[in-house]
Amino acid sequence: MSNYHIKQFEEYFQVYKKSINQPEQFWEEIAEEHFYWRKKWDKVLSWDFRKPEVKWFEGAQLNITENCLDRHLRTRGEKTAILFEPNNPEEKAEHISYKQLHERVCKFANVLKEKGINKGDRVCIYLPMIPELAVSVLACARIGAIHSVVFAGFSSTALSTRINDCDAKMVITSDGSYRGAKTLDLKGIVDEALENCDGVASVLVAKRINSEVFMKAGRDYWLQPLLDEAYQDCNAEIMNAEDPLFILYTSGSTGMPKGMMHTTAGYMVYTAYTFKNVFDYREDDVYWCTADIGWITGHSYIVYGPLANGATTVMFEGVPSYPDFGRFWEIVEKHKITQFYTAPTAIRALAKQGTEFVDTYDLSSLKVLGTVGEPINEEAWHWYNDNVGKKKSPIVDTWWQTETGGIMITPIPFSTPTKPTYATLPFIGIQPALMDDDGQEIKGNQVDGRLCIKFPWPSIARTIWGNHQRYKDTYFSAFDNMYFTGDGALRDEVGYYRITGRVDDVIIVSGHNLGTAPIEDAINEHQAVAESAIVGFPHDVKGNAMYGYITLKDAGETRDHDNVRKEINQLITDRIGPIAKLDKIQFTDGLPKTRSGKIMRRILRKIACNETDQLGDTSTLLNPEVVQSIIDHKL
Ligand code: WTA
Repeated sequence: MSNYHIKQFEEYFQVYKKSINQPEQFWEEIAEEHFYWRKKWDKVLSWDFRKPEVKWFEGAQLNITENCLDRHLRTRGEKTAILFEPNNPEEKAEHISYKQLHERVCKFANVLKEKGINKGDRVCIYLPMIPELAVSVLACARIGAIHSVVFAGFSSTALSTRINDCDAKMVITSDGSYRGAKTLDLKGIVDEALENCDGVASVLVAKRINSEVFMKAGRDYWLQPLLDEAYQDCNAEIMNAEDPLFILYTSGSTGMPKGMMHTTAGYMVYTAYTFKNVFDYREDDVYWCTADIGWITGHSYIVYGPLANGATTVMFEGVPSYPDFGRFWEIVEKHKITQFYTAPTAIRALAKQGTEFVDTYDLSSLKVLGTVGEPINEEAWHWYNDNVGKKKSPIVDTWWQTETGGIMITPIPFSTPTKPTYATLPFIGIQPALMDDDGQEIKGNQVDGRLCIKFPWPSIARTIWGNHQRYKDTYFSAFDNMYFTGDGALRDEVGYYRITGRVDDVIIVSGHNLGTAPIEDAINEHQAVAESAIVGFPHDVKGNAMYGYITLKDAGETRDHDNVRKEINQLITDRIGPIAKLDKIQFTDGLPKTRSGKIMRRILRKIACNETDQLGDTSTLLNPEVVQSIIDHKL
């Protein structure tokens, strides 16, 4: 018998040991007993981090939707698979059973086929959090098309970059979306994006807000009439274990976003197994993750992980502040949520409102609370623990990444003793290492270093779409024979890990990863800008906010600086999206540079964070005099 559900701390240690000592045997047992395979594997694992290449369950054949849908039909056909909670609390929630979801996915899959989508084709999905989003993701997987979901808050430029990078043949969108009291014109954004995307042959449009939209003849189709006509049976395409399942873009510290490519079997096994254990999921639970499916958290822990376990998973269309800051708690009470998984930034925003909202609702159904996306500060952790969990629901602080596919460092609830701000211990099968600047592993406890992983796990991303060299350079070159996460971490006296934050030029703002380079590129497009550098600084709700240091071409000339600031933020909104806007923009006479001309972001970061006493030696700079002037004019 495999150890599919861990319930005690001692058991965790035993299972962990086994997963490290005999990884292949361990994962083989999990895979064998808990999933439906068309054909079993010939080899459990082959890997080489130096190449890099990782393959799990080679030779196996399966379809992930048969594991997420078909196999539950007999025992859980009438059970709610997706519980859709609309933006407007007055609108009725929708309970979609496993049987209904199966039928909707099959019909949608037939529409995709009818529109010429084949196995291996890329389909870009740009939808709000409505059931069609989950259905279209699964429909792609049903026929072996590779989905690339783009968060529907990204701008048309960001969307077209992603569509072109993966050469998508189709876009699935909606007329618009609701977000609190606002509506967004998604179809308009898609139309703008497609002016620069020649490869897209068709666009399917779901109706959500009933707005008037432009429909291009021969390219754009309303979804519903096509679904009405479609057959309700669709055989699942038989996929090889290592066939691509999806591409999901994440920001890098330089240049283009990285299209992380995940494959089928390993991803399925790992997300399902982590879901079961990290959330202590039981049959009658109602699980809610507040993320958007446009991010990896939504892929792994709204769609695939929960459905592979036959769970009821909530999809929420709205925002935590609409119609008021009690919305999350109202939903918890209404649907008797048992597991609640959110981001520290949401907790901080809600904590700011005091306890009035949270105390209004009955939260006694909650058993497990989770956080993800950025380090959780001690104050937010306690607020969450005291006011939401009433000190009885363990908090699982889950550390992981788009690249890792699933949760990597986390407590197991009711088993691992938690500690505020600590993600605690590696999950089963995960072998973390802390490295020093010389590339040596730092052993022992009470140490800190750069966080790496020594051994492959089933859901590691296999490549960056179209750029394997970049995959190697980014993750496998900093330290020999290791996956480098880009994060720093410390290990305390008992071996618990605390993630201290990014050590590269990625800034996490409200849980969204933002690379500085594309933002600087957008700023530099402004005709008055000579040069710019972005750094993060602490923000009490967003975790980090962005500080921009900008030099103008004709510094002497008088300009309306506030106007330039507005124009710069508008450019960023157009090129990337409103989430990337700068909180502070300081115009400077110059930027501190090394003698080789590299901008010293470290110094700028210290200034933005009010740590000017820690600047270190600046005398070796090319232009040490600018530092004082920047400090004097700090915002
Ligand atoms: C950060 C999100 C501290 C980290 C699943 C990581 C965290 C990046 C935590 C990945 C956590 C995520 N504590 N930091 N519990 N979870 N991070 O790709 O810097 O959107 O590298 O994946 O978020 O963000 P991504």
